[in-house]
Amino acid sequence: MFGSGRTFHGLILTTAGRKQLYRKFVTSYEHIEMRPVEHPLVASRLAILRHVDTNRAVFRTTLAELATLLIYESTKDASTEAVRIPTPLTETDGVRLEHPPLLVPILRAGLGMAEAAQRLLPESEMGFVGLARDETTHEARAYMEVLPEDLTGRTVFVLDPMIATGGSLAHCARMINNRNAASITVICALAAPEGLAYVDTLGIRMRVVTASVDERLNEHAYIVPGLGDAGDRQFGTI
Ligand code: PRP
Ligand code: URA
Repeated sequence: MFGSGRTFHGLILTTAGRKQLYRKFVTSYEHIEMRPVEHPLVASRLAILRHVDTNRAVFRTTLAELATLLIYESTKDASTEAVRIPTPLTETDGVRLEHPPLLVPILRAGLGMAEAAQRLLPESEMGFVGLARDETTHEARAYMEVLPEDLTGRTVFVLDPMIATGGSLAHCARMINNRNAASITVICALAAPEGLAYVDTLGIRMRVVTASVDERLNEHAYIVPGLGDAGDRQFGTI
């Protein structure tokens, strides 16, 4: 794909640019379908979230806006069914979503995306999964699980701003997959390549809709450049 002149679709690329494109378009996973969302409104919201001086209130508002944009993108190929609707003047054809998804925010940080998702998809139901990473081992520990016993045939949207080691998503995806969901879409602000690679090894098919795949994890399993702790930045350090 990258020719000898180090070009990509006619663009001459720097080394950093090549690496970024490689991550965004070339890295392919066996079970994960990546959908990086490239849009100025998404990129500008992400910049606000990343900024160290963004206060808690602005962070929460901006995360909700970003969630709206990502969900808009992730539903563009959702199946619809035809309905006849009366306008004030006559009758005409309209559509509605055929399979409104089950929304599953991963607490705490995913809560900041839940209301935005529900506003766009008011017909949806919502489940909840509470997970916290152990600060030392970085492993996800479950403390809450409110999901239907059977998800056969259901479309599920997992909401979590971060995929870091991938442990939290792996835990949640297994729960959903064990209940026979038809499809899993993960809506996240940021993903780390290490976490995506790990989640791919689970063998569970899913789509990941994200504003960015960042460079790497640091020694504390935080995403770099990242945005810090997505839960703490919304709700404080508890
Ligand atoms: C954050 C984030 C993810 C998880 C990602 O939650 O919201 O759920 O970390 O990390 P991982 O991919 O390495 O599992 P955290 O565990 O900090 O809990 P919080 O949302 O309650 O702050
Ligand atoms: N969880 C977060 O909130 N941020 C990270 O960078 C990694 C895990």
